[in-house]
Amino acid sequence: MNLILFGPPGAGKGTQAQFIVDQYRIPQISTGDMLRSAVKAQTPLGVRAKAVMDAGELVSDDIVLGLVGERLSSPDCENGFILDGFPRTIPQAKSLMVILEGLGRTINHVISLDVANEVLVQRLSGRRTCPECGKGFHVVFAPPKLEGLCDACGGKLLQRDDDLRETVLNRLSVYDQQTLPLKNYFIERGVLRHIDGTLPISDIQQQIRALLGVGSGDCP
Ligand code: AP5
Ligand code: MG
Repeated sequence: MNLILFGPPGAGKGTQAQFIVDQYRIPQISTGDMLRSAVKAQTPLGVRAKAVMDAGELVSDDIVLGLVGERLSSPDCENGFILDGFPRTIPQAKSLMVILEGLGRTINHVISLDVANEVLVQRLSGRRTCPECGKGFHVVFAPPKLEGLCDACGGKLLQRDDDLRETVLNRLSVYDQQTLPLKNYFIERGVLRHIDGTLPISDIQQQIRALLGVGSGDCP
């Protein structure tokens, strides 16, 4: 099962990806997470990407395609994958189709999480992430059991550098200009599935389960 999670910053792509990984045992490929790892490790690519990410702009297609192309040929993607935050431009989508064709694969579903901008700003300003294991929280909508600490590993939760209000507003505008046109691209290919991203997290999970069927995480 080869999936794309599609939607604006804060739509809940990462949140639902965690659920799909657990239920369906396929890996999450998040270009945002891969870039943040490169920034943290201060690799040459990470150093170049940091300024772009902090400004809320998109990293170049070449860089991102290099990351994803390699990852998709890994053995753990054999039974499927979840692309989160990729593709984000028409050239990225076209290149993805070429890569998949070379691997003899195709995209089964593009799950589009639709959420209004004012809700997105609220979500991103309250988001907290564990730098140790990557688990995501929200101070109001998905709070950790102990304030400021990750439920899964006890790591100290942090706010992302690009979740500052001004950067968030630019990320939303970049999304409208460069990423939203992809919806038509996916509609034309008959793979776009809409889910109301303003529903509670568990209701969205139920809708994803209804779309994808029972996962191996449901087995006893
Ligand atoms: P990336 O990391 O991909 O960020 P994004 O797309 O902006 O999306 P977010 O991760 O901010 O949101 P999300 O949809 O995952 O929401 P989440 O589940 O966390 O990209 C970051 C940057 O990297 C880009 O700006 C760009 O510079 C670069 N980049 C990455 N990919 C690129 C590419 N392909 N090309 C070029 N550049 C690229 O949820 C948000 C919050 O809301 C959380 O606190 C969560 O708990 C809460 N929440 C989630 N769902 C719900 C719900 N249903 N109800 C209430 N609260 C909810
Ligand atoms: Mg995310």
